[in-house]
Amino acid sequence: MYKFGILGCGMIANIHADAVKELENATLCGAADHSPAAAERFAEKHGCHAYASYAEMLADGEIDAVCICTPSGFHAENAIAALEAGKHVVLEKPMALSTADADRIIETCDRTGKLLTVISQLRFAKDIQWVKRLIADGSFGRISLCGLHMKYYRAKEYYSSSPWKGTLKFDGGGALMNQGIHGIDLLEYLVGPIKAACGKIATLCHDIEVEDTAVATVEFESGALGLIEGSTCAYPGFERRIEIHGDEGYVILRETLIEKLMIGGREVSVESLGGKAGTASDPTALGCHNHRMQMENLLAAIEGREKLLVDCREGKKAIRVIESIYHSSAEA
Ligand SMILES: NC(=O)c1ccc[n+]([C@@H]2O[C@H](COP(=O)([O-])OP(=O)(O)OC[C@H]3O[C@@H](n4cnc5c(N)ncnc54)[C@H](O)[C@@H]3O)[C@@H](O)[C@H]2O)c1
Repeated sequence: MYKFGILGCGMIANIHADAVKELENATLCGAADHSPAAAERFAEKHGCHAYASYAEMLADGEIDAVCICTPSGFHAENAIAALEAGKHVVLEKPMALSTADADRIIETCDRTGKLLTVISQLRFAKDIQWVKRLIADGSFGRISLCGLHMKYYRAKEYYSSSPWKGTLKFDGGGALMNQGIHGIDLLEYLVGPIKAACGKIATLCHDIEVEDTAVATVEFESGALGLIEGSTCAYPGFERRIEIHGDEGYVILRETLIEKLMIGGREVSVESLGGKAGTASDPTALGCHNHRMQMENLLAAIEGREKLLVDCREGKKAIRVIESIYHSSAEA
């Protein structure tokens, strides 16, 4: 049985705890938070031990893997500490707030030989895996144009009720670095590698230090071109759409569900799976299924049965794209 610890006992930590509890070959041992009261509450709710500190959790030789669910600005230092302590790591997105910090994590992974997976749970969704196979098979012909349209809405309270959301130091970015990273990661995964990206960001509707609106263009190594729209001020919030077009077909994804599909010039009727609205307006509308699949992949990789789908080098790719957009926006 693999023994897990969780650091940071907020909203997403509950998804991690539920996912660990669903694993057949793992148990949740304990949790830590910089607020001891938060750790106690969480431990009581999930039936595990409350560590007095992160250092105490890392010193516990029983713990095999740590889920890092702290505000994004702590991810790099928290992940490096866990790897140095000999733990495997499940690291929430974004893995770091800069490619330089991502590189420090990669170096530590390589040196310690411990495995780290960056949460990118949407890659594990059934329809996303299907689209990945279709693209690999050339089902859409030559892909020329892609679009990521993420017009989400976050109320002012989403930012004002949290000490770290919307701050440069701990969120590192907004509509792209916090919410948009999922869709950018999917573009990278499905159509990438992305060769270059540039765009413009703005803060228009919220009193925050990071962007709530962004537009960008991307160029894929294949030569295909893509458009990115990201917003957290598009009331009342729309489901994320990803559109991928080739000269023999296309796919339109609504959140992680295929909405329309044409393969080899023929429309394919797709049974509606009746998916939920996703996190277009409610960031807490998440299930733990895909997190569990990602943790299963980590444990299988530890045993050498599977390749890690989202290792630290994969996790860095979306950050590189977002960083390029931020830099180009600042220079324009
Ligand atoms: N994969 C997803 O779909 C998804 C969804 C939501 C959030 N996230 C990511 O999860 C992370 C946490 O987000 P959240 O919404 O759970 O935040 P949150 O504010 O609800 O929880 C953060 C928790 O971390 C604790 N904390 C803060 N600083 C700490 C420190 N230095 N050491 C230990 N604990 C500390 C806080 O007390 C709080 O309990 C973010 O990086 C976010 O991007 C991912």
